[in-house]
Amino acid sequence: MADIGTDHGFLPIELARSGRVPRAFACDKRTRPLEQTRVNIEDAKVADRVEARLGDGLAPVQGERLGTVTIAGMGSPAIHRILRGKGDCDIRRFVLAPNDDAVALRQALFTLELWLDDERIVEDDGRFYPVLVASARSSSRARAPRSPTRADLLLGAPLHHGGPNVRPWLQARATHLATRLGATAGRHRPAEAAQLLEDLDILRAFLFRAERSASFR
Ligand SMILES: C[S@@+](CC[C@H](N)C(=O)[O-])C[C@H]1O[C@@H](n2cnc3c(N)ncnc32)[C@H](O)[C@@H]1O
Repeated sequence: MADIGTDHGFLPIELARSGRVPRAFACDKRTRPLEQTRVNIEDAKVADRVEARLGDGLAPVQGERLGTVTIAGMGSPAIHRILRGKGDCDIRRFVLAPNDDAVALRQALFTLELWLDDERIVEDDGRFYPVLVASARSSSRARAPRSPTRADLLLGAPLHHGGPNVRPWLQARATHLATRLGATAGRHRPAEAAQLLEDLDILRAFLFRAERSASFR
């Protein structure tokens, strides 16, 4: 596996230490965090399995064959830019944890012909984050992909049927959008207000369903 934007390398070190991956690349574009990553790799005694590599996006692992690439803790536009640079990498799947609402990332996956295989909402310190699992669209897939609807962009299709943390995450998103809608009052931005209203309607419809369905608990 490779962790892009690894900072201090905690994720690949833990995955190697616990035996969940045989080999990992811890990659970052900044020298300082990577120096600390190298210290952490030595401390965790995983130097035979984890290699720190310096570089932008997927550049440090070009030509490698990778089971999983993780990109976490960046905004959707930064993750999109990294995915666009996939080049020659042979990557089975991506696990992506943006630090925003992931709407732009879900659209980007469709544009890049990556398939959203799974999506979960994880909670950390009272905040909720979407985690997306994507892979290249294989020609063996029976159905041709359809363009994502606005509902697909607001919450990935795998979340439409519920799952852990989906309900509180929907509530938090709806509150956030209602606050943004309130802030548009007085400013002349009819297109922005109309989009926020449409998004709120979609989220509230899912919330209505979530409050009545056991699969959202
Ligand atoms: C907020 S930290 C997230 C660290 C870790 N992935 C996590 O989720 O806790 C973002 C890291 O991504 C790195 N980064 C940002 N853009 C990058 C890029 N294009 N290529 C490689 N690393 C990048 C930064 O240097 C920083 O260490």
